[in-house]
This record gives sequence, C-alpha cells and structure tokens, in this order.
Amino acid sequence: MEYRGYDSAGVAVLDGAGTLIVERKAGRLANLETELDVTGRDRFAGTAGMGHTRWATHGAPVDRNSHPHRDTAERVAVVHNGIIENFATLRAELEADGIELSSDTDTETAAHLIARAYTDGPAAGDLPASVRTVCRRLEGAFTLVVTHADEPDLIVAARRSSPLVVGVGEGETFVASDVSAFIEHTRDAVELGQDQLVAITRDGYEVTDFAGEPAQAKPFTVAWDLSAAEKGGHDYFMLKEIEEQPEALANTLRGHFDHGRIILDEQRMSDQDLRDVDKVFVVACGTAYHSGLIAKYAIEHWTRLPVEVELASEFRYRDPVLDRDTLVVAISQSGETADTLEAVRHARGQKARVLAICNTNGAQIPRESDAVLYTHAGPEVGVAATKTFTSQIAANYLVGLALAQARGTKYPDEVAREFAELEAMPAAVQKALSTVDHVRALGQQLADSKAVLFLGRHVGFPVALEGALKLKELAYMHAEGFAAGELKHGPIALIESGLPVVVVMPSPKGRAVLHAKLLSNISEIQARGARTIVIAEEGDDTVRPFADELVEVPAVPTLLQPLVSSVPLQVLAAEIARTRGYDVDKPRNLAKSVTVE
Ligand code: G6P
Repeated sequence: MEYRGYDSAGVAVLDGAGTLIVERKAGRLANLETELDVTGRDRFAGTAGMGHTRWATHGAPVDRNSHPHRDTAERVAVVHNGIIENFATLRAELEADGIELSSDTDTETAAHLIARAYTDGPAAGDLPASVRTVCRRLEGAFTLVVTHADEPDLIVAARRSSPLVVGVGEGETFVASDVSAFIEHTRDAVELGQDQLVAITRDGYEVTDFAGEPAQAKPFTVAWDLSAAEKGGHDYFMLKEIEEQPEALANTLRGHFDHGRIILDEQRMSDQDLRDVDKVFVVACGTAYHSGLIAKYAIEHWTRLPVEVELASEFRYRDPVLDRDTLVVAISQSGETADTLEAVRHARGQKARVLAICNTNGAQIPRESDAVLYTHAGPEVGVAATKTFTSQIAANYLVGLALAQARGTKYPDEVAREFAELEAMPAAVQKALSTVDHVRALGQQLADSKAVLFLGRHVGFPVALEGALKLKELAYMHAEGFAAGELKHGPIALIESGLPVVVVMPSPKGRAVLHAKLLSNISEIQARGARTIVIAEEGDDTVRPFADELVEVPAVPTLLQPLVSSVPLQVLAAEIARTRGYDVDKPRNLAKSVTVE
C-alpha cells in the first residue's frame, strides 16, 4: 500500500497471549523492514495484525507519529487514514482527564477513546461497539483499523468517506484501503458503505452501521490478479504503466459502443436528463484536471454545450452557477480524492447531476454520482499518473459522444466514426512508444537543466501543462507549461541561452493555421537561444529547421493527439528523474490518493 504514503510505516501484531507487539519507523517501508531484521521478526508471530504506511498530515513524519497508535495501557492499536477534524477538542478532553498523548497526531485520540469505551460504559468488553461509540463522535473523513490485546482473533475496521475493502479468503480475512494489499491471497472482496463498520475474524466478517444495525456491504470479484500489481521485469512501475497504455486504452473503450450506441457503465439518470443538460462543468485535481482541460475541446466541439473546467478544490468554494440541468463531470483515478468528492457533494447539493469518470470500481465518487464511466485501466502503482491519464482522456471523449448522441448534435454514423477513430488509438500509442529509447537518451542529456518550459496550443496546451507537472512531480525540476500564444505576453522573458523548451506541435494538415503560428513561436524562442525539443507528427518536415531535437509521433486526428504526444513527455520526466537519482514511483512529499482536503 506504499503508494498511499511513504513517510513512515508500522506494524502491530496480537500474539494470541494478550500482548500487542508494535514496531514503527519513520521513512520508507524499507526502513521498517531493516529495523525488523535487527530487532527480530520472530517476535511478530501471532493471530492477527495490521500494517500502515503514512502520508503525514498531523505531526511530522517521525517514529513517534507513525501508526499504529496505542492507548496508555498499550491494549489498543489503531491505524488511520484521513483527518479527524475535531481532534483538538477530543485531545483537550483527554488531556483534561489526565491522559498524556505521546504523538502529535489526530489518530492517537481515537486509540485512547476506544480504550476508554472498551473499559467503561455501555460498550465495555465489546470492541465493535466501542469503535462504533467513538466513530459516532468523530468528525471528518476516516478509515480506522483497530485491535485490542484482549481480542486476539478479531480486527475491527470502520469508514467514513475514506476507502475500506474486505478480502475474503479461505480461513483468512483481510481489510485494506485497496484490494492490491490482499490480491495475492484472494480476489473475493467486499466493499464497505459509508459509515459502516466491519468486524473480521479468520472465518469471515460482519458488517454493521455506526448505530450497530446489521448493514449490507457489496461483494465483488477483483478483475485483475497479482501480476497486474507487480513490476514484471521493469525497473519502475511507472515505466511498466507507460508501456501498458495501449492495453489500458483498449480496456477503457471496450464494451462502450454497442448496437450503434455509446453506453456508460452505470446510469442512474434518465436519457431525458442527459438531453436536458445545458452546461457542463468538469471538476478534477492534478493530472485528472489536465485530462479535463482536453475534454473541453471535444465536448464543446461535439455537443455545442458550454464546458467549464475547474480545479475541484476551487469549484466548491466559489459558488458556481449550478442547477438540475448542469452536468458535472468528476474525473478521478482513485475515486476517493477528497477535493473532488467534496466538489461532487456540493454539485449534488445544488441539484446538478454528476457523472464520474473513475478507475476504481465502487470508490466513493462513483458511488455518489448519477452516472459512471470506469476507465478500466487496471491498477496504477506509480504515484505519477500515466496510463490512467490517457485512459481518462478516452473516457472523457466517450462522455462527449454520449452527450452528442443524447442531444442529437451528432448523427449515429458520426458517433460511430468518432468511436472507430478512438479504437485505432491503442495501435497509435503503441507506435508512439517506439520513441522511448530516443526520449530516454534526451532525458539523460537534460538531467542537469535548471528548468524546462513546455509550450502547446489547442489540445497541445493541456499536454504541455501535464508534461510540466510530470517533470515537477518526478524530477523536482522547475517546469512550466504555457499556451504558446501567451509566450510574448510574459513567459518569453524566461528564455535564456540553452534553456530547454519542449514544444507540442499540432498537425500541419489538421491544424495548419495553428501549426504556422507555433512555428513562429518557436522561431521567437530559438532567436533568444532556447534549445528546442519538438514533439511533432511524423513526416512534418516543415518543423525540422526549428527543432534542435525532434520527437516524432504518429499522425492522428487533432482531438486525439494528446493520447500520442503525452507519451514522450511521460518518458522524458521519468528518465530525467531516474538520471537525477530519484525514485520514480515514489516522488517526495506526494501520495497517489489524497484523501484529505
Ligand atoms: C494526487 C496525485 C496525482 C493525481 C491527483 C488526482 O495529487 O499525486 O497524480 O492526478 O491526486 O487524483 P485522482 O485519483 O482524483 O485522479
């Protein structure tokens, strides 16, 4: 689960004889492993246990803030994902009762409260009831996993807004934030609903709501196996995932065009609702937001609906104009990004319809949406999104076509033609991957650069933004993406001799006017000494004189160009990072799933 955070890691095991054995260590999981080698792994024999990897929110990533956290008597162990928002009040209450807290975390308050509920009061001696009592008092988003030394065969877990899945094996049961933690042992999983608690034993599980009433959780079978979540001979997950893009794209498209119609995975709104849409908002964060910027070009072009693309964290706090005819498209790989989830809730609160594009079956964002399109890109372990980005672009286009179909702005044969063009993209992306060796060599040359600029126009502009984001995330290098037309309105002041500038060229045939304008932009920066790295359509000879380095990608329809032009930019960022000696899969300070606002 390290992709969720790698600031520190810890384990707790119940030895079956009433003792809780805990080890915690700041830093990567590897630090904890080394520590266990030194202190002895045999100590960890037991009946039940838990592990945690942390992305620090409350309290610096040091040993004492690492999970699991315990109560004073060291009977209860708790791991937590999310933020307990009323933790200051809870902490003050505990301190007033004379309890000394040993960490700066919000999580530790839960450990003390659960220990207290288990000792005194109506829930005494009943761990699930004690956890429920405490959960009812907690505010914010959280997943908690709890053990008690007096209950050696039991693990209790609860969730509100953060993810939690149960893995059901033979003679063993698991809980985790994500199925990849237990896929090695079982593909039978159960997804917990909002405000639910599960008590697991080796023989099975029992689900209740926070009031203690029996509750239904949804069983499902994971569609992929362990090999999908392993590196398979690659140095990094990210490189594997970059190479998986043709397959991921094919999976995104599969089954979505049937009997001449685009179909979504889930639709809990009527066709009439879809027809009535008069405005579209796209909300997302990070890379998903960039996919949304690309979607705008296609959706507006195909449907003539106005589309606004907004960062989820801004959308919610700005009083956007929404009503029941507004469609909010929420794009999220994980389906659990707190900013995007809250944007969805805000939109629904204003009666807007929400369509989710998501890579994780049954995650919270699709659960709270009126319609869902899954990207089916498979698990993505590298923290920086790659195959899920290109899959999101394809999924966004399917949504655009579904809207065009519902509104009649495209004839069925036109929809079919657009879909056929999308279906040709896995092969085109495969071809784009043949540039990998060239781009890697280029990455090695650029590894000492101070900064890199990225320029594009039209759909190439979001591609430039994403190329810059990848470089920032992975190589910790200053990188900016600009609309090439903006160059002379400011960014050109940044150009100095030798500065690498990556230019995403449009097709000379598909977008001749823009192509010509970009050539002028490149001349302007070349004249000022920039080193130009040009991503252009194969056979585009007019660009050669302007390119210090030329990377050719296959010729594809304009709107689909981001699918091929993104590939070299992903490879470039990964290779620069690798050459600089960084862990490409686990960039510093980042986590793949950001479940806090
Ligand atoms: C984090 C990740 C990014 C990702 C963003 C949105 O910031 O580091 O790679 O693009 O979250 O994630 P989502 O799961 O909502 O697509």
